[in-house]
Amino acid sequence: MNNKKKIFQSVLPATVAATIISMSTCSMAADSDPIKVGVMLPFSGVYAGLGESTRNGLKQALKEQGNSIAGRPVEFIEMDTEAKPARAPEITSSLVDNQKADFVIGPVHSGVAMGMIKTIKGKDSIMIIPNAGANAATGAFCQPNVFRTSFSSWQTAFPMGKEAYDMGYKKIVTMSWNYGFGKESLEAFNESFTKAGGEVIKEMLVPFPKTEFQSYLTEIASINPDAVFVFFAGGGAVKFVKDYDAMGLKGKIPLLGSGFLTEGTTTAQGPAAEGVITTLHYADALDIPKNKSFRQEYETLYGKPADLFAVQGYDAGQLIVDAVTATHGNTADKAALIQQMEKLEIDSPRGSFHFSKAHNPIQTIYLRKVVDGQNTVVKVAHENLEDPARGCKL
Ligand code: BEZ
Repeated sequence: MNNKKKIFQSVLPATVAATIISMSTCSMAADSDPIKVGVMLPFSGVYAGLGESTRNGLKQALKEQGNSIAGRPVEFIEMDTEAKPARAPEITSSLVDNQKADFVIGPVHSGVAMGMIKTIKGKDSIMIIPNAGANAATGAFCQPNVFRTSFSSWQTAFPMGKEAYDMGYKKIVTMSWNYGFGKESLEAFNESFTKAGGEVIKEMLVPFPKTEFQSYLTEIASINPDAVFVFFAGGGAVKFVKDYDAMGLKGKIPLLGSGFLTEGTTTAQGPAAEGVITTLHYADALDIPKNKSFRQEYETLYGKPADLFAVQGYDAGQLIVDAVTATHGNTADKAALIQQMEKLEIDSPRGSFHFSKAHNPIQTIYLRKVVDGQNTVVKVAHENLEDPARGCKL
């Protein structure tokens, strides 16, 4: 099964060449036409590592099926979003209107997600979000043809507020990149931390994707809070955790975060990441048979350890496989596909989950700690947490 063919298209600027990879040896008879899967991920910029892991996981799920579902080959059409929200409408429209993609998988960045959702609304393609957490995606802007295999901003940060208070921290400084997902994460933390009795004494917002943190860290040192809660991910998370250590804050002011701070980054962060405490719906060391087999296969295929982003891409792939299998290969009737997707239980490495009415996973959130470069489970922070889906009318 190795007849990969690459076609570079000129629909978009040269920096965003589309790569079409046909992944099957099947003939092109009418009932074995390819299932078209558009992929919109950041393959460059500060979130490039997240995009690569997501794509790897997605392809792993399809490889397990011999790259075909119900006898139909799968064709991927890949686009680099560069994590730039302004690019979203143009790329989405090219996949949905020109390529007639059955599914569009993406993105990583919440701002890109909102642009995609506005463009795909009412169209004959199904969007599966494998990362971006914007609450509105499965809240006020929820759509019948939009599913998410990742999380909402609220889900990943809300449980940490109470955990932080229970750890004895009463006065906290929060910090994040200044865009939707980061601000929503701080809000969700604040909601449960203040409800428990704590106080956020300072909120710091850094322009995205800036990674010069020294002046902010100097200010934190002078405030000397009980702890610091942050959202950073990818290249920004690596830089932040290393700077926090280099500026002498590690060991003096405990560092907490939503789990992206230490996802796919601990090798690059090295000893600076040891002991960092986060909340997330996954941990490397989760003792679940599916997680172990998934991680082993991922390492064999890609020569490096899996991370959460790979899990979420894998689950987007599993969602396609399970739904198209249930419709016996029929992707023309999108309403029937959506109906199947709403009923599915996804056998995820994070533990199996199903979707809420708003199409967001109902899932368990773990309190985690980095030990020997691995995200280990300290305890369950919240079992089967469902996003409140504020404003969703589905
Ligand atoms: C977001 O923009 O939604 C996001 C980006 C990276 C990690 C987690 C969330």
